[in-house]
This record gives sequence, C-alpha cells and structure tokens, in this order.
Amino acid sequence: MKLWGGRFETGPAELFERYSGSLDFDRKLFEADVVGSKAFANALCGVGILTAAERDKINAAFDGMLAEAGAPGYFDADDEDIHTFVIRKLGEEVGELAEKIHTGRSRNEQVATDFRLWMKAAIRRVQAQLEALMNSLLRLAERESDALLPGYTHLRRAQAVLFGHYLLAYFEMFVRDWHRMQQAYNRTDVLPLGSGALAGSGFAFDRGAMAADLGFAAISANSLDAVSDRDFALDFLYAASVAMLHASRLAEDWILYSSEEFGFLEIGDEVTTGSSLMPQKRNPDALELLRGKAGRVCGSLQALMMTLKGLPLAYNRDLQEDKEGVFDSAAQVTDSLAILALCVDSAELKRPAMEQAAEEGWVSATALAEILARKGIAFHRAHQIVGGIVLASVQQGKRPTEWTMDELRGFAPELDESALAALVPSNALENHQVPGGTATDRVREASAAARARLAGLARMSASEGARTT
Ligand code: ARG
Repeated sequence: MKLWGGRFETGPAELFERYSGSLDFDRKLFEADVVGSKAFANALCGVGILTAAERDKINAAFDGMLAEAGAPGYFDADDEDIHTFVIRKLGEEVGELAEKIHTGRSRNEQVATDFRLWMKAAIRRVQAQLEALMNSLLRLAERESDALLPGYTHLRRAQAVLFGHYLLAYFEMFVRDWHRMQQAYNRTDVLPLGSGALAGSGFAFDRGAMAADLGFAAISANSLDAVSDRDFALDFLYAASVAMLHASRLAEDWILYSSEEFGFLEIGDEVTTGSSLMPQKRNPDALELLRGKAGRVCGSLQALMMTLKGLPLAYNRDLQEDKEGVFDSAAQVTDSLAILALCVDSAELKRPAMEQAAEEGWVSATALAEILARKGIAFHRAHQIVGGIVLASVQQGKRPTEWTMDELRGFAPELDESALAALVPSNALENHQVPGGTATDRVREASAAARARLAGLARMSASEGARTT
C-alpha cells in the first residue's frame, strides 16, 4: 500500500522501491507511530473531522495493534515505511474509516514526532545505564578504599593516587554524560505534530492538548523548522559519542592494567575470551570491542552532521538517513555501558603489583621536594636536590625506601624523618589534602558526595520519566 499515487501514471521501479523503503529499520518507531496516531485521532475529533464514536473505534483498533505487535512475522510486509504500515493495518481493522486518519497530517511531521518519542525513551535507557555504571564504580571505590595506584602522565609513573580517586575521575565524566543526555532529552521534548508538511496544518488543532496527550513539555514554534529540525538527534549522538569516548578511556586503561606488563588488576571470565590457537591466552575482548565501538558511534554523529549540511528547508528525503545511526548508537552506548559495569563489577585488584610499581616509579619524588620547599628551600633548588637522589637511586639500583636517614641528609641537611616517611607512596599521597585531591580524607568525602549526587540523578530521571510517560 501507498499513501500517494493519484498523480502517477506508472509505479516506481522495483529497485527504487527497495532503495527508498524504510520499514526494515523504522519499524522501531511502530509504538511511537501508533501512540502518536491515537493523539492525532483525538485532535481530529476536536476539530470535528471524526465523531467521538469514530475516534473511539480507531483508538480501540490502535490498542489492538499495540497488543498484537509482538506476534512473530507481524512486520513482514512490503509497505514503504512504518507510517504506511500502521495506516494499512488500521484499514484492516476499521475499513474505510481509516482513510480519515491522515486528514491534515503529513508524514514529515509524523516521522519527526515518532522519532522524538522513541528518542526520549532511549535517552532514559542510556541514563539508567549511566547510573548503573556509576554505582558500580562507587561500589568498587568503596570496597578498595585504601588501594593505591601509580597515577600516570605521558603513561609514565607520576604521583601516587588512591585507586578510589582514580575511579571517581570516571564518575565525574559519567555524571557529565548524564547531564548531556538530559540536555538532549530537553531538546527532544518538543512536539512537532500540527506542523503539517511544512506550513502548519490546515486544521486548527489544539496542539497543547496533543502535547499533553503524548507527554511533551512544549510544542514547536515554527512549522518549517519543526519538520526539518534534527538537532535533537545530533545532541543525542554527541552526548552518546562523548560517553563512548569516556568509556573507551577506561577500557584502554584496563586493557593496559590487566596486561602481564602492568598486572594491576584482572577482569572476570565473564568478560574475557580465550584464543583459538594459544591455550594460555585470556584476552580483554569486551574492553577492546567497546574501544572499537566508540569509533562507530562518533561516525554516526559525523554522518548525520553531513546529512544536514546545506540541506534546504524544509523536509527533504535525505532526512530518512537520520534514523539508523541513532538507533545503532543508542543500542551500542546502552550495551557498552552495561558491559563496562560488568567489567568493573568483576575487577580483582592486585595491590602488591600496584604498590610496587608506585614505589619503584619514584612517585613520591614530588612530595619529597615539597617537604624541602616547606622548609624554606626554593622549589627549583628542591627539585634539583630530589632529582639528584633519584639519579643516585637509578645508578645504584636502589629503591626509594632503601635510603637511610643519614644518606638522605647527605643530599640535603634539611631532610628529616618526615622525608623517610614520604618515600612510602601511601604516605606521599596524603600530601594532597587540597579539595579535589587524592588524600584519604578528601577521597572519603568525595565518595560520600558522589553517592548523594548519584541518588539525586536517579530521582530526577524517575520523576521526569513519570511526567512524560
Ligand atoms: N520515511 C520518511 C523518513 O524517514 C518519512 C516519510 C516522509 N516521506 C516523504 N516522502 N515526504 O523521513
């Protein structure tokens, strides 16, 4: 079935029908299309096109369709798109009456409405996964609250940090992702229905009532913009891309940390694989796949930006290309965050390796220089002195904690027992008492604050979810 055809002498080529058809992917919009059509039937009743009895008959048929849609083969059809499919199905239920449902409506506004409805639910799913991942990170931070990690810059050991401090860094990123998703949600939460094909519908619908019916916070202000705007999808793809970038950084860290070379942690059997050839292998495929998929999601953002570049107003069929990248990205980001949470839940730390790497890496050198600076030695000079101690260590094959008090005094008479203590990385990190720093008390406070922030996010999405469904 087609929703057009009167002014054509012959039909489209079979190749073109296949080329232009979208049912195999836009069937994801089925529920949104039916729910949107119910609200539209209400609006048609409001302007006198449908009687209340006709509206009820149509909406009962729509409810029946929603109930049946799970049946196998339900979507095996050759309709051009999901909107055509839904109207044909309606016709099978209510006969000729179905021909009134598209009065004063265009698929251009319909697809924009459906897409927004679908995305609002998808964004909530992503936010829920972000919350679950943040919860996993916090649980691990709490469980391993006194574990220590050599922090890196340039992938060279730099200063000791608490492992919890390291995990909370990712918590911050995922909180920002949650808020970016919320911004995308707010942009999506605007109803285009009533915009017609481009000029606004020829019928004076109560658009506010339609928005209330469908749980949208607002109605669009300009019909030309409403049918051709896909900024909300760009916003979502950007938010999804950034979340994937963050996830990929954690993945990369842990691919390294779980390697034989680092040996800082293990991730569980449930997220690792073996080799078909090499019996000893235990590969971090889950994290590698995630790292790979980050590129794919960023690619979808790029693709939609290119689709929109230079697109003349208003609706153009190019816009049909908006959906697959968004559907795919929503699935990839949701699953990737869930996989990452599994990895975090399964992590087993190897504390001795982390501590040894920290100590051997001279991560306490800065703390030592700062002890001298506190005693009134200019920092540049203190830096030189400690550099000399590190050099002597390297030359003599000595670990930092092998230096005696007398030997240290030989480098600088100002050095006292506090210097000996600072050579132990777990003491050195207590130097970082500044807000946002890695000292134990600061991390304990940050962890507790993170718990409260996470609870706040969950409350926010739950209450808004209730408003919009
Ligand atoms: N399938 C189209 C899309 O996804 C919606 C239909 C509008 N088609 C049209 N020729 N005006 O954008």
